[in-house]
Formats: sequence, structure tokens, C-alpha cells
Amino acid sequence: MKAYRAALAHCTRHPVSAADDGMLQTFDDGLLVVEDGLIVAVGAAVELLPGLKPDTLVTDWRGKIIVPGFVDSHVHAAQLDVIASPGRDLLDWLERFTFPAEAAFADGDHATLIANLFLDELLKNGTTSAFAWPTVHKQSADALFAAAHARNLRLITGKVLMDRNCPDNLRDTEKSGAQESADLIAQWHGKGRLSYAITPRFALTSTEAQLHSAGDLLHSNPGVFMQTHLAENHAEIVAVLASFPKARSYLDVYENFGLLGGRSVFAHCIHLSAEDRARMLASASTAAHCPTSNLFLGSGLMDLRTMLNEGLPVSLASDVGGGTSFSMLATMAAAYQVAQLRGGWTPSVATLLYLATLAGARAMGAEAQIGSFAPGKEADFAVLDCAATPLIARRCECAPSLAEKLFALITLGDDRAVKATYVLGHAASVPTKHA
Ligand code: GUN
Ligand code: ZN
Repeated sequence: MKAYRAALAHCTRHPVSAADDGMLQTFDDGLLVVEDGLIVAVGAAVELLPGLKPDTLVTDWRGKIIVPGFVDSHVHAAQLDVIASPGRDLLDWLERFTFPAEAAFADGDHATLIANLFLDELLKNGTTSAFAWPTVHKQSADALFAAAHARNLRLITGKVLMDRNCPDNLRDTEKSGAQESADLIAQWHGKGRLSYAITPRFALTSTEAQLHSAGDLLHSNPGVFMQTHLAENHAEIVAVLASFPKARSYLDVYENFGLLGGRSVFAHCIHLSAEDRARMLASASTAAHCPTSNLFLGSGLMDLRTMLNEGLPVSLASDVGGGTSFSMLATMAAAYQVAQLRGGWTPSVATLLYLATLAGARAMGAEAQIGSFAPGKEADFAVLDCAATPLIARRCECAPSLAEKLFALITLGDDRAVKATYVLGHAASVPTKHA
């Protein structure tokens, strides 16, 4: 048995509205007790310390804040090399930077190298679970699954499906895409903490036949997820509606192929009608909010407030390499800034932490396992350092409450603010070099 003494912050439930911040539970001097990789107790140190078994090793981390491991609900592993590439907008950025970088994943060694660098980057940032994207190449999905399995990380991924409107060297076919997806499901889905996601890139890069086969795969493989992009950019939407003239909306394209549901995650969801949001809510689909990406590519300002008020499942995501940081602290800060730009509502610390933890856990179908410190859940957590930089130290000293310290870490922090990351109760070691 091990215990960690620090300030603790986590979200105990989903908010009922954008104004609800009652889900945040904090302990200024808390104790997190872990046994066999699972949380056995959480609470005030003064109450829990006397009841610990005598041989319990207590790590004293007073001055730090322990939060649940972050969940990045949409991130492109294969775009590590194109983060910070200045495209004019989504379609220009895809064509000039992203597709050429993804073509390099035809080389299995490159795929393995990047998969490892990517997961190290997640861990350095306190991210312990993710919906990740490889490329169209089967071996890039294999490499990502294998690297996540070696680290015991909870990861959902799947080979990208794209059979049109992309370079030849990134194109599969309806048949090869379906066969390779089925092979990968057989090999990886349900292994350790891994799950498979059917991954049609977006409506523009799949034929009707491929979207149809994606729907078939989703419905014929119980427990499998689906991830794609939706309503990110105006030019993208115009092109999708031109391609699918009978569709009511961009979302409707996916709905017509049976791709909505409680295991489906749609990145961006910026330009959605009230009817689209109602369809997403009715199907329990998740919207993955990608604020750094939306600012960087100039895609727009997602209406987080309305989604939370309507009860639509929404989670937070870096969307690297459209996104500009692997840090979910920086991503929370961007979500705050996007909401400020929309006006009329200012997200609370509770809302921000919720989006980066419990909301992502729900998207992964893993609410019973991760996302908060409820006893019985897996001990995935990040230790945030209130003295990570001189400025953060100064600002945190001036913050009267734990919530204000956490807000300072969100606003000023990045990977430097993550002192340690634990996966199933073990400190995740992050090698700095790869051969
Ligand atoms: N839409 C289709 N592909 C992509 C991608 O790789 N990144 C983003 N942000 N949007 C997309
Ligand atoms: Zn994306």
C-alpha cells in the first residue's frame, strides 16, 4: 500500500449546466491511498493517516496538487512533427504540411519512433489516457498500440480510413481499409487497457462506400469506438455539403451511415445547428473541444456554454498537430480564452478540470475506471508543482485558495508544471532519448 500526501483536486460528477461548479472536490492537505494500482481511499490527511496500515509508504508532496491523469480525447500521434506549422486554414494546412508528414509512416521504423516520442510527450504532460490518431498505414496503428501496451496506457486508436481526396500514398480502399481495421480489432481491441476506434478521417476523405463500411464495422464489433472530425471549418463544410447533396447537414452525413452513438467522438463541432446538437445529444455522441487548434487554424469558437447547458457530452482535446500544445493545462487555458472571446460566460476551474478528466473518461466509456479519485478506480494521476517556475511559485503563494492555485497552474503551466505522472500507481518513467 502507498499513500501520497498533497493538495488534491478532482471532479466527482458531471456538471448539470455551464454554471454548475459543484462537482469540484478539493482537499488542501489530502491523502490519496493506492493499493495494487487502484485507489482505495481519498480524503483529508488528518483523517486518513491514522488508519493507514503500518507499512504504508507515504510520499510527502505537500506544496503540490494531485489531479486525475488527464484525458486527451482527440490527438494525432502522427502529427508530432508538424506541430507549429503555419497553415492558412484547415485545408491548406492538411495539404501543405500534414499529408506529407503522414506519408512518412509507410516506414514502420518511423511509426515506432514517433509512437514512442508521442506517448512520452503525453506522460510528460500528465496525460494518461487518449483517443489517438495514427495514419492510414496499418503499421502505424500497430506501432501506437504496441507502444501504449508497453506503458500500460489507456489508449483508443485505429487505422485512419481515407479512400479519396488525398495523396495517392495516403489512400486506402473501402476493401483494404475494412480488412485492415478488422485485423487490428482482432489483434488489439480489449487487450490490456486498449480499445479500437473505427477512424474515418472526415467526410471529405471517404467515399460513401467507405463510410458505409465504417458503420458496418462499428455495429458488428461490440465495444469498438468511432472517431472523426466534424464541422471544423467553413470551407470544409461547403465541400462536404457539395459532396453529399442529399444530406441535411455535415453531421447528417455521419448519421446516415450509422456513425453516431455513445462510443463516437467528433472533434471540433464548431459550426453546428441546434438540430445537429440535438441529434448528437439524442445519440449520446461526444463533442471533443479542441481550442488551441481552433485558434491556431482560425477555425472558430466552439459554443461550449450551450453544449454544457444542453447536457451534450463534451470533452477536451489537444488536437496536436493542429493544436499547439500537448499540455492539457494549456488546452484548458485555451478553452477558457475561447469562452471569454464568445462572451457572456466565464468557465470555472471546476468546469476546466472536469473537461480534461471526467468528461474524457466518459467519452472513453471508462468512467468506472478513470477520471476521478473514487475508491476502486485506477490510480492514474498527475502531480502538479505549484513552484514549477519562479512566476508560478510567486503567483501560487499569492493565491488564497486551492482552486485559485489550480487556475494559476492552468493559465501559466505546461509540461514544466507536471512533476510526476502515475499510471496504475506506478511512476511513469519518461526516457529522454530514443535510439
Ligand atoms: N480534418 C481532417 N483531418 C484533420 C486533421 O488532421 N486535423 C484537423 N484539425 N482537422 C482535420
Ligand atoms: Zn484532429
